[in-house]
Amino acid sequence: MYRGVRATALCDNSYMALNVVILAAGQGKRMFSERPKVLHLLAGRPLLAHVIATARVLGADRICVVYGHGGEQVPQAINDAGIVFVKQEPQLGTGHALMRALPHLGRAGKTLVLYGDVPLIRSQTLKTLVEAAMPRVVVLSAELDDPSGYGRVVRDKRGRIAAIVEDKDASASQRKIREVNTGIMVLPTARLAGWLAKLKNRNAQGEYYLTDVVSLALGNRITVDAVKAGDAWETLGVNSRAQLARLERIYQWQCANRLLEQGVTLIDPMRFDVRGNLDCGSDVRIDVNCVFEGQVRLGAGVEIGANCVLRNVEVGAGTRIEPFTHIDEATIGTGCRIGPFARIRPGTRLAEEVHIGNFVEVKASEIEARSKANHLAYVGDSTVGRDVNIGAGTITCNYDGANKHRTVIEDDVHIGSDVQLVAPVRLAKGVTIGAGTTVWKDTPSGGLVINAKTQEHRPGWKRPKKQERREE
Ligand code: UD1
Ligand code: MG
Repeated sequence: MYRGVRATALCDNSYMALNVVILAAGQGKRMFSERPKVLHLLAGRPLLAHVIATARVLGADRICVVYGHGGEQVPQAINDAGIVFVKQEPQLGTGHALMRALPHLGRAGKTLVLYGDVPLIRSQTLKTLVEAAMPRVVVLSAELDDPSGYGRVVRDKRGRIAAIVEDKDASASQRKIREVNTGIMVLPTARLAGWLAKLKNRNAQGEYYLTDVVSLALGNRITVDAVKAGDAWETLGVNSRAQLARLERIYQWQCANRLLEQGVTLIDPMRFDVRGNLDCGSDVRIDVNCVFEGQVRLGAGVEIGANCVLRNVEVGAGTRIEPFTHIDEATIGTGCRIGPFARIRPGTRLAEEVHIGNFVEVKASEIEARSKANHLAYVGDSTVGRDVNIGAGTITCNYDGANKHRTVIEDDVHIGSDVQLVAPVRLAKGVTIGAGTTVWKDTPSGGLVINAKTQEHRPGWKRPKKQERREE
Protein backbone atom coordinates (compact mmCIF):
# COMPACT_ATOMS: atom_id res chain seq x y z
CA MET A 1 0.00 0.00 0.00
CA TYR A 2 2.67 2.44 1.09
CA ARG A 3 4.87 1.60 -1.90
CA GLY A 4 1.96 2.13 -4.27
CA VAL A 5 1.36 5.63 -2.97
CA ARG A 6 5.01 6.50 -3.24
CA ALA A 7 5.23 5.23 -6.85
CA THR A 8 2.32 7.48 -7.83
CA ALA A 9 4.00 10.45 -6.23
CA LEU A 10 7.16 9.89 -8.24
CA CYS A 11 5.29 9.63 -11.53
CA ASP A 12 3.31 12.78 -10.84
CA ASN A 13 4.67 15.70 -12.87
CA SER A 14 4.31 18.06 -9.93
CA TYR A 15 7.05 16.13 -8.15
CA MET A 16 10.29 17.61 -9.33
CA ALA A 17 13.53 18.20 -7.51
CA LEU A 18 13.48 21.65 -5.92
CA ASN A 19 16.65 23.51 -5.06
CA VAL A 20 16.46 26.65 -3.00
CA VAL A 21 19.36 29.09 -3.17
CA ILE A 22 19.30 31.88 -0.62
CA LEU A 23 21.49 34.84 -1.55
CA ALA A 24 22.99 36.27 1.60
CA ALA A 25 26.49 37.42 0.80
CA GLY A 26 25.85 41.17 0.59
CA GLN A 27 27.27 43.60 3.10
CA GLY A 28 24.26 45.64 4.13
CA LYS A 29 26.22 48.90 4.33
CA ARG A 30 23.22 50.91 5.46
CA MET A 31 22.84 48.88 8.64
CA PHE A 32 26.09 50.45 9.93
CA SER A 33 26.86 47.23 11.73
CA GLU A 34 29.67 44.77 12.36
CA ARG A 35 27.10 42.00 12.16
CA PRO A 36 26.26 40.56 8.71
CA LYS A 37 22.87 41.93 7.67
CA VAL A 38 21.15 38.53 7.46
CA LEU A 39 21.99 37.87 11.12
CA HIS A 40 20.08 40.89 12.39
CA LEU A 41 17.07 39.74 14.37
CA LEU A 42 13.42 39.87 13.39
CA ALA A 43 11.05 38.57 16.06
CA GLY A 44 14.09 37.30 17.96
CA ARG A 45 15.48 35.18 15.08
CA PRO A 46 18.03 36.03 12.37
CA LEU A 47 16.50 37.26 9.11
CA LEU A 48 18.10 34.31 7.35
CA ALA A 49 16.51 31.81 9.77
CA HIS A 50 13.06 33.06 8.72
CA VAL A 51 13.87 32.48 5.04
CA ILE A 52 15.29 29.01 5.77
CA ALA A 53 12.15 28.07 7.72
CA THR A 54 9.96 29.14 4.78
CA ALA A 55 12.14 27.16 2.34
CA ARG A 56 11.70 24.10 4.56
CA VAL A 57 7.91 24.37 4.35
CA LEU A 58 8.24 24.03 0.55
CA GLY A 59 9.90 20.66 1.01
CA ALA A 60 13.05 21.68 -0.86
CA ASP A 61 15.43 18.85 -1.67
CA ARG A 62 18.42 21.10 -1.15
CA ILE A 63 18.81 24.46 0.56
CA CYS A 64 21.95 26.33 -0.29
CA VAL A 65 22.95 29.60 1.38
CA VAL A 66 25.45 31.85 -0.40
CA TYR A 67 27.30 33.86 2.22
CA GLY A 68 30.33 36.12 2.10
CA HIS A 69 30.35 39.38 3.98
CA GLY A 70 31.08 38.84 7.68
CA GLY A 71 32.92 35.57 6.99
CA GLU A 72 32.08 32.46 8.95
CA GLN A 73 29.66 34.23 11.28
CA VAL A 74 26.73 33.28 9.05
CA PRO A 75 27.19 29.47 8.96
CA GLN A 76 28.22 29.53 12.63
CA ALA A 77 25.11 31.40 13.74
CA ILE A 78 22.73 29.25 11.70
CA ASN A 79 24.56 26.04 12.65
CA ASP A 80 22.39 23.67 10.63
CA ALA A 81 23.85 20.53 9.09
CA GLY A 82 20.92 20.32 6.66
CA ILE A 83 22.01 23.48 4.83
CA VAL A 84 24.76 23.71 2.22
CA PHE A 85 26.76 26.90 2.83
CA VAL A 86 28.71 28.28 -0.10
CA LYS A 87 31.14 31.15 0.26
CA GLN A 88 31.14 33.92 -2.35
CA GLU A 89 34.23 36.07 -2.15
CA PRO A 90 34.47 38.66 -3.62
CA GLN A 91 30.81 39.47 -4.18
CA LEU A 92 30.45 40.24 -7.87
CA GLY A 93 26.67 40.35 -8.13
CA THR A 94 23.56 38.19 -7.83
CA GLY A 95 24.39 36.19 -10.99
CA HIS A 96 27.87 35.47 -9.69
CA ALA A 97 26.37 34.38 -6.35
CA LEU A 98 24.13 31.80 -8.07
CA MET A 99 27.12 30.64 -10.11
CA ARG A 100 28.94 29.82 -6.87
CA ALA A 101 26.00 27.69 -5.74
CA LEU A 102 25.67 25.84 -9.05
CA PRO A 103 28.05 22.91 -8.34
CA HIS A 104 25.90 22.02 -5.31
CA LEU A 105 22.55 21.93 -7.12
CA GLY A 106 22.40 18.75 -9.18
CA ARG A 107 21.05 19.11 -12.71
CA ALA A 108 17.33 18.50 -12.69
CA GLY A 109 14.18 20.21 -11.51
CA LYS A 110 13.70 23.81 -10.50
CA THR A 111 15.82 26.28 -8.65
CA LEU A 112 14.14 28.90 -6.50
CA VAL A 113 16.23 31.96 -5.70
CA LEU A 114 15.42 33.72 -2.42
CA TYR A 115 17.08 36.65 -0.65
CA GLY A 116 18.34 36.28 2.91
CA ASP A 117 17.20 39.82 3.64
CA VAL A 118 13.57 39.36 2.50
CA PRO A 119 12.25 37.52 5.56
CA LEU A 120 8.47 37.88 5.35
CA ILE A 121 7.92 36.04 2.07
CA ARG A 122 5.14 33.47 2.57
CA SER A 123 5.45 29.83 1.61
CA GLN A 124 2.04 30.01 -0.11
CA THR A 125 3.28 32.72 -2.48
CA LEU A 126 6.39 30.70 -3.25
CA LYS A 127 4.32 27.56 -3.91
CA THR A 128 2.33 29.45 -6.55
CA LEU A 129 5.58 30.62 -8.10
CA VAL A 130 7.19 27.17 -8.10
CA GLU A 131 4.08 25.54 -9.56
CA ALA A 132 3.98 28.10 -12.37
CA ALA A 133 7.61 27.46 -13.32
CA MET A 134 9.14 24.85 -15.63
CA PRO A 135 9.95 24.88 -18.35
CA ARG A 136 9.36 28.60 -17.95
CA VAL A 137 11.27 31.13 -15.89
CA VAL A 138 9.00 32.83 -13.37
CA VAL A 139 9.87 35.94 -11.42
CA LEU A 140 7.98 37.32 -8.46
CA SER A 141 7.13 40.91 -9.21
CA ALA A 142 5.40 43.61 -7.19
CA GLU A 143 3.58 46.80 -8.09
CA LEU A 144 5.11 49.64 -6.06
CA ASP A 145 4.08 53.29 -5.70
CA ASP A 146 7.74 54.20 -5.44
CA PRO A 147 9.75 51.74 -7.55
CA SER A 148 13.04 53.65 -7.31
CA GLY A 149 16.08 51.50 -6.64
CA TYR A 150 14.49 48.31 -7.96
CA GLY A 151 14.97 46.44 -11.23
CA ARG A 152 11.99 47.16 -13.52
CA VAL A 153 9.99 44.51 -15.35
CA VAL A 154 9.97 45.69 -18.97
CA ARG A 155 7.15 44.24 -21.11
CA ASP A 156 6.61 44.25 -24.88
CA LYS A 157 3.52 45.60 -26.65
CA ARG A 158 1.67 42.33 -26.05
CA GLY A 159 2.40 42.49 -22.36
CA ARG A 160 5.01 39.74 -22.36
CA ILE A 161 8.17 40.19 -20.30
CA ALA A 162 11.04 41.39 -22.46
CA ALA A 163 13.73 42.14 -19.87
CA ILE A 164 14.51 43.21 -16.33
CA VAL A 165 16.45 46.44 -16.28
CA GLU A 166 18.25 47.60 -13.16
CA ASP A 167 17.40 51.07 -11.84
CA LYS A 168 20.93 52.32 -12.49
CA ASP A 169 20.84 51.08 -16.09
CA ALA A 170 17.27 52.12 -16.87
CA SER A 171 16.21 54.85 -19.31
CA ALA A 172 14.00 57.68 -18.11
CA SER A 173 10.89 56.00 -19.51
CA GLN A 174 11.82 52.60 -18.01
CA ARG A 175 12.22 54.26 -14.63
CA LYS A 176 8.53 55.16 -14.74
CA ILE A 177 7.55 51.46 -14.74
CA ARG A 178 6.03 50.55 -11.38
CA GLU A 179 6.22 46.78 -11.73
CA VAL A 180 9.48 45.75 -10.08
CA ASN A 181 11.53 42.59 -9.79
CA THR A 182 11.45 41.43 -6.17
CA GLY A 183 14.56 39.35 -6.88
CA ILE A 184 12.77 36.08 -6.11
CA MET A 185 12.58 33.80 -9.14
CA VAL A 186 12.34 30.16 -10.23
CA LEU A 187 14.54 28.81 -13.02
CA PRO A 188 14.95 25.44 -14.74
CA THR A 189 18.10 24.03 -13.12
CA ALA A 190 19.34 22.28 -16.28
CA ARG A 191 19.61 25.65 -18.08
CA LEU A 192 21.50 27.49 -15.36
CA ALA A 193 25.05 26.50 -16.22
CA GLY A 194 24.66 27.70 -19.83
CA TRP A 195 22.97 30.99 -18.92
CA LEU A 196 25.20 31.95 -16.03
CA ALA A 197 28.33 31.31 -18.14
CA LYS A 198 27.06 33.90 -20.59
CA LEU A 199 26.50 36.72 -18.07
CA LYS A 200 28.55 39.86 -18.68
CA ASN A 201 29.34 42.60 -16.20
CA ARG A 202 29.18 45.47 -18.66
CA ASN A 203 26.65 47.54 -16.75
CA ALA A 204 26.46 50.55 -14.46
CA GLN A 205 27.56 48.54 -11.40
CA GLY A 206 30.16 46.28 -13.05
CA GLU A 207 28.29 43.24 -11.61
CA TYR A 208 27.08 39.92 -12.97
CA TYR A 209 23.33 40.45 -12.82
CA LEU A 210 21.13 37.41 -12.32
CA THR A 211 18.34 39.40 -13.93
CA ASP A 212 20.14 39.15 -17.28
CA VAL A 213 19.12 35.47 -17.49
CA VAL A 214 15.72 36.81 -18.51
CA SER A 215 16.95 37.91 -21.94
CA LEU A 216 19.07 34.76 -22.26
CA ALA A 217 15.97 32.61 -21.59
CA LEU A 218 13.96 34.59 -24.15
CA GLY A 219 16.82 34.05 -26.64
CA ASN A 220 16.37 30.31 -26.08
CA ARG A 221 12.61 30.72 -26.73
CA ILE A 222 11.82 30.00 -23.11
CA THR A 223 8.91 32.01 -21.79
CA VAL A 224 9.47 34.30 -18.84
CA ASP A 225 6.45 35.05 -16.67
CA ALA A 226 5.84 37.12 -13.61
CA VAL A 227 3.62 36.26 -10.67
CA LYS A 228 2.59 39.34 -8.77
CA ALA A 229 2.88 39.17 -5.01
CA GLY A 230 -0.55 39.47 -3.41
CA ASP A 231 0.77 41.74 -0.68
CA ALA A 232 3.73 43.98 -1.38
CA TRP A 233 4.90 43.72 2.27
CA GLU A 234 5.89 40.10 1.70
CA THR A 235 8.57 41.17 -0.73
CA LEU A 236 10.05 43.98 1.34
CA GLY A 237 13.75 43.71 2.00
CA VAL A 238 15.84 44.94 4.92
CA ASN A 239 18.49 47.46 3.99
CA SER A 240 18.42 49.78 7.02
CA ARG A 241 17.47 49.75 10.69
CA ALA A 242 14.32 51.69 9.84
CA GLN A 243 13.23 49.02 7.36
CA LEU A 244 14.04 46.31 9.91
CA ALA A 245 11.82 48.03 12.49
CA ARG A 246 9.04 48.37 9.92
CA LEU A 247 9.21 44.66 9.03
CA GLU A 248 9.21 43.74 12.72
CA ARG A 249 5.91 45.62 13.12
CA ILE A 250 4.42 43.93 10.04
CA TYR A 251 5.45 40.53 11.40
CA GLN A 252 3.98 41.29 14.83
CA TRP A 253 0.80 42.62 13.27
CA GLN A 254 0.39 39.28 11.46
CA CYS A 255 0.87 37.35 14.74
CA ALA A 256 -1.54 39.62 16.58
CA ASN A 257 -4.18 39.26 13.87
CA ARG A 258 -3.96 35.48 13.93
CA LEU A 259 -4.52 35.48 17.70
CA LEU A 260 -7.41 37.95 17.48
CA GLU A 261 -9.03 35.71 14.88
CA GLN A 262 -8.63 32.75 17.26
CA GLY A 263 -10.51 34.65 19.97
CA VAL A 264 -7.66 36.05 22.06
CA THR A 265 -8.18 39.54 23.51
CA LEU A 266 -5.24 41.83 22.86
CA ILE A 267 -5.83 45.21 24.44
CA ASP A 268 -3.61 46.79 21.79
CA PRO A 269 -2.36 44.58 18.93
CA MET A 270 0.23 47.24 18.10
CA ARG A 271 1.87 46.88 21.52
CA PHE A 272 2.46 43.17 21.60
CA ASP A 273 5.47 41.02 20.62
CA VAL A 274 5.90 37.32 19.96
CA ARG A 275 9.44 36.07 19.49
CA GLY A 276 8.72 32.37 19.04
CA ASN A 277 5.36 30.63 19.36
CA LEU A 278 2.42 31.64 21.49
CA ASP A 279 -0.46 29.17 21.92
CA CYS A 280 -3.57 30.38 23.68
CA GLY A 281 -6.64 28.62 25.04
CA SER A 282 -10.05 30.28 24.90
CA ASP A 283 -10.72 33.68 26.45
CA VAL A 284 -7.13 34.64 27.08
CA ARG A 285 -6.64 38.35 27.70
CA ILE A 286 -3.33 40.10 27.17
CA ASP A 287 -2.73 43.70 28.19
CA VAL A 288 -0.26 46.06 26.49
CA ASN A 289 3.53 45.75 26.10
CA CYS A 290 3.93 42.05 26.78
CA VAL A 291 6.74 40.03 25.19
CA PHE A 292 6.45 36.26 24.60
CA GLU A 293 9.67 34.45 23.79
CA GLY A 294 10.36 30.84 22.80
CA GLN A 295 7.45 28.46 23.36
CA VAL A 296 4.68 29.94 25.49
CA ARG A 297 1.33 28.26 26.18
CA LEU A 298 -1.46 30.04 27.98
CA GLY A 299 -4.40 27.98 29.21
CA ALA A 300 -8.05 29.00 28.95
CA GLY A 301 -9.00 32.22 30.70
CA VAL A 302 -5.43 33.26 31.51
CA GLU A 303 -4.98 37.00 32.01
CA ILE A 304 -1.65 38.71 31.50
CA GLY A 305 -1.25 42.24 32.86
CA ALA A 306 0.70 45.01 31.15
CA ASN A 307 4.47 44.87 30.67
CA CYS A 308 5.08 41.18 31.34
CA VAL A 309 7.85 39.11 29.74
CA LEU A 310 7.30 35.34 29.46
CA ARG A 311 9.93 33.03 27.99
CA ASN A 312 9.40 29.29 27.51
CA VAL A 313 6.51 29.16 29.94
CA GLU A 314 3.38 27.10 30.34
CA VAL A 315 0.57 28.74 32.28
CA GLY A 316 -2.43 26.76 33.53
CA ALA A 317 -6.05 27.77 32.99
CA GLY A 318 -7.48 30.64 34.98
CA THR A 319 -4.15 31.99 36.21
CA ARG A 320 -3.68 35.75 36.49
CA ILE A 321 -0.29 37.28 35.88
CA GLU A 322 -0.25 40.84 37.15
CA PRO A 323 1.75 43.68 35.52
CA PHE A 324 5.57 43.84 35.33
CA THR A 325 6.12 40.13 35.90
CA HIS A 326 9.06 38.26 34.37
CA ILE A 327 8.80 34.46 33.98
CA ASP A 328 11.55 32.38 32.42
CA GLU A 329 11.51 28.58 31.78
CA ALA A 330 8.77 27.70 34.24
CA THR A 331 5.50 25.84 34.56
CA ILE A 332 2.69 27.67 36.30
CA GLY A 333 -0.35 25.73 37.47
CA THR A 334 -4.02 26.57 37.19
CA GLY A 335 -5.70 29.34 39.17
CA CYS A 336 -2.42 30.94 40.33
CA ARG A 337 -1.86 34.65 41.00
CA ILE A 338 1.57 35.96 40.10
CA GLY A 339 2.86 39.50 40.52
CA PRO A 340 2.75 42.41 40.12
CA PHE A 341 6.57 42.71 39.96
CA ALA A 342 7.29 39.01 40.42
CA ARG A 343 10.29 37.20 38.98
CA ILE A 344 10.11 33.48 38.30
CA ARG A 345 13.34 31.95 37.13
CA PRO A 346 14.25 28.71 35.32
CA GLY A 347 13.39 25.34 36.79
CA THR A 348 10.33 26.52 38.71
CA ARG A 349 7.09 24.56 38.87
CA LEU A 350 4.08 25.98 40.63
CA ALA A 351 1.05 23.76 41.34
CA GLU A 352 -2.50 25.08 41.39
CA GLU A 353 -3.65 28.23 43.19
CA VAL A 354 -0.18 29.31 44.25
CA HIS A 355 0.23 33.04 44.98
CA ILE A 356 3.52 34.78 44.25
CA GLY A 357 3.33 38.48 45.05
CA ASN A 358 5.31 41.63 44.51
CA PHE A 359 9.11 41.58 44.64
CA VAL A 360 9.21 37.83 45.14
CA GLU A 361 11.86 35.86 43.28
CA VAL A 362 11.50 32.10 42.81
CA LYS A 363 14.27 29.99 41.28
CA ALA A 364 14.53 26.24 40.59
CA SER A 365 11.79 25.47 43.08
CA GLU A 366 8.66 23.40 43.27
CA ILE A 367 5.77 24.91 45.13
CA GLU A 368 2.67 22.82 45.80
CA ALA A 369 -0.99 23.79 45.84
CA ARG A 370 -2.30 26.91 47.61
CA SER A 371 1.06 27.98 49.01
CA LYS A 372 1.76 31.70 49.14
CA ALA A 373 4.73 34.05 49.13
CA ASN A 374 3.06 37.39 48.79
CA HIS A 375 5.75 39.99 49.40
CA LEU A 376 9.51 40.55 49.17
CA ALA A 377 10.95 37.04 49.36
CA TYR A 378 13.57 34.83 47.72
CA VAL A 379 12.71 31.17 47.29
CA GLY A 380 15.61 29.38 45.58
CA ASP A 381 16.43 25.67 45.13
CA SER A 382 13.47 24.78 47.31
CA THR A 383 10.79 22.15 47.59
CA VAL A 384 7.73 23.74 49.13
CA GLY A 385 4.70 21.68 50.16
CA ARG A 386 1.08 22.74 50.08
CA ASP A 387 -0.72 25.37 52.14
CA VAL A 388 2.59 26.94 53.12
CA ASN A 389 2.72 30.63 53.97
CA ILE A 390 6.02 32.41 53.40
CA GLY A 391 6.17 35.80 55.12
CA ALA A 392 7.55 39.06 53.78
CA GLY A 393 11.32 39.27 53.68
CA THR A 394 11.89 35.53 53.94
CA ILE A 395 15.08 34.42 52.20
CA THR A 396 16.36 30.96 51.41
CA CYS A 397 20.11 31.24 51.92
CA ASN A 398 20.90 28.63 49.28
CA TYR A 399 24.48 29.53 48.41
CA ASP A 400 27.47 29.04 50.69
CA GLY A 401 29.84 30.84 48.32
CA ALA A 402 30.77 27.62 46.54
CA ASN A 403 27.74 25.35 46.31
CA LYS A 404 23.96 25.59 46.16
CA HIS A 405 21.89 23.72 48.74
CA ARG A 406 18.23 22.81 48.91
CA THR A 407 15.58 23.95 51.32
CA VAL A 408 12.64 21.68 52.01
CA ILE A 409 9.48 23.19 53.45
CA GLU A 410 6.82 20.59 54.16
CA ASP A 411 3.03 21.02 53.98
CA ASP A 412 1.26 23.58 56.15
CA VAL A 413 4.42 25.33 57.41
CA HIS A 414 3.94 29.01 58.32
CA ILE A 415 6.97 31.27 58.10
CA GLY A 416 6.87 34.74 59.70
CA SER A 417 8.44 37.86 58.26
CA ASP A 418 12.16 38.40 57.78
CA VAL A 419 13.25 34.81 58.22
CA GLN A 420 16.47 33.32 56.88
CA LEU A 421 16.46 29.63 56.00
CA VAL A 422 20.08 28.51 55.83
CA ALA A 423 20.24 25.57 53.40
CA PRO A 424 20.50 22.64 53.45
CA VAL A 425 17.58 22.69 55.85
CA ARG A 426 14.19 21.00 56.28
CA LEU A 427 11.15 22.55 57.96
CA ALA A 428 8.90 19.70 58.98
CA LYS A 429 5.16 19.61 58.50
CA GLY A 430 3.04 22.19 60.26
CA VAL A 431 5.86 24.04 62.05
CA THR A 432 5.57 27.80 62.58
CA ILE A 433 8.67 29.99 62.33
CA GLY A 434 8.58 33.24 64.29
CA ALA A 435 9.41 36.57 62.68
CA GLY A 436 13.11 37.38 62.43
CA THR A 437 14.28 33.80 63.00
CA THR A 438 17.40 32.36 61.38
CA VAL A 439 16.73 28.67 60.81
CA TRP A 440 19.99 26.74 60.40
CA LYS A 441 18.93 23.37 61.74
CA ASP A 442 16.15 21.04 60.62
CA THR A 443 12.99 21.65 62.63
CA PRO A 444 10.59 19.16 64.18
CA SER A 445 7.00 19.20 62.96
CA GLY A 446 4.36 21.40 64.60
CA GLY A 447 5.04 23.96 67.35
CA LEU A 448 6.96 27.25 67.09
CA VAL A 449 10.61 27.84 66.22
CA ILE A 450 12.21 31.14 67.24
CA ASN A 451 15.75 32.28 68.01
CA ALA A 452 16.38 33.37 71.58
CA LYS A 453 16.81 37.10 71.31
CA THR A 454 16.46 39.79 73.90
CA GLN A 455 15.09 43.28 73.59
CA GLU A 456 16.36 46.00 75.85
CA HIS A 457 15.64 49.69 76.27
CA ARG A 458 18.33 52.35 76.96
CA PRO A 459 16.45 55.44 78.09
CA GLY A 460 19.45 57.82 78.32
CA TRP A 461 20.83 57.03 74.89
CA LYS A 462 21.46 60.05 72.64
CA ARG A 463 21.40 60.13 68.86
CA PRO A 464 24.74 61.09 67.30
CA LYS A 465 24.86 64.67 66.02
CA LYS A 466 26.38 65.98 62.80
CA GLN A 467 29.63 67.88 63.42
CA GLU A 468 29.50 71.60 62.45
CA ARG A 469 31.74 72.31 59.46
CA ARG A 470 33.95 75.33 60.02
CA GLU A 471 34.25 77.70 57.03
CA GLU A 472 37.92 78.18 56.03
C1 UD1 B 1 18.42 43.12 -6.85
C2 UD1 B 1 17.94 42.85 -8.28
C3 UD1 B 1 16.85 43.87 -8.62
C4 UD1 B 1 15.72 43.78 -7.63
C5 UD1 B 1 16.25 43.96 -6.19
C6 UD1 B 1 15.16 43.66 -5.23
C7 UD1 B 1 19.83 42.02 -9.56
C8 UD1 B 1 20.90 42.35 -10.53
N1 UD1 B 1 19.05 43.01 -9.20
O1 UD1 B 1 19.04 44.39 -6.87
O2 UD1 B 1 16.35 43.61 -9.94
O3 UD1 B 1 14.74 44.77 -7.91
O4 UD1 B 1 17.34 43.05 -5.95
O5 UD1 B 1 15.59 43.96 -3.94
O6 UD1 B 1 19.71 40.87 -9.18
N2 UD1 B 1 23.96 39.23 -3.05
C9 UD1 B 1 24.89 38.22 -2.97
N3 UD1 B 1 26.07 38.36 -3.64
C10 UD1 B 1 26.33 39.43 -4.44
C11 UD1 B 1 25.36 40.44 -4.52
C12 UD1 B 1 24.18 40.31 -3.83
O7 UD1 B 1 24.70 37.23 -2.25
O8 UD1 B 1 27.41 39.45 -5.04
C13 UD1 B 1 22.70 39.09 -2.30
C14 UD1 B 1 22.50 40.17 -1.26
O9 UD1 B 1 22.98 39.76 0.00
C15 UD1 B 1 20.99 40.33 -1.25
C16 UD1 B 1 20.59 39.97 -2.67
O10 UD1 B 1 21.65 39.23 -3.22
O11 UD1 B 1 20.37 39.41 -0.38
C17 UD1 B 1 20.32 41.21 -3.53
O12 UD1 B 1 21.49 41.99 -3.61
P1 UD1 B 1 21.44 43.56 -3.71
O13 UD1 B 1 22.81 44.05 -3.84
O14 UD1 B 1 20.58 44.11 -2.65
O15 UD1 B 1 20.72 43.72 -5.13
P2 UD1 B 1 19.94 45.01 -5.64
O16 UD1 B 1 20.92 45.92 -6.26
O17 UD1 B 1 19.06 45.52 -4.61
MG1 MG C 1 18.87 45.28 -2.45
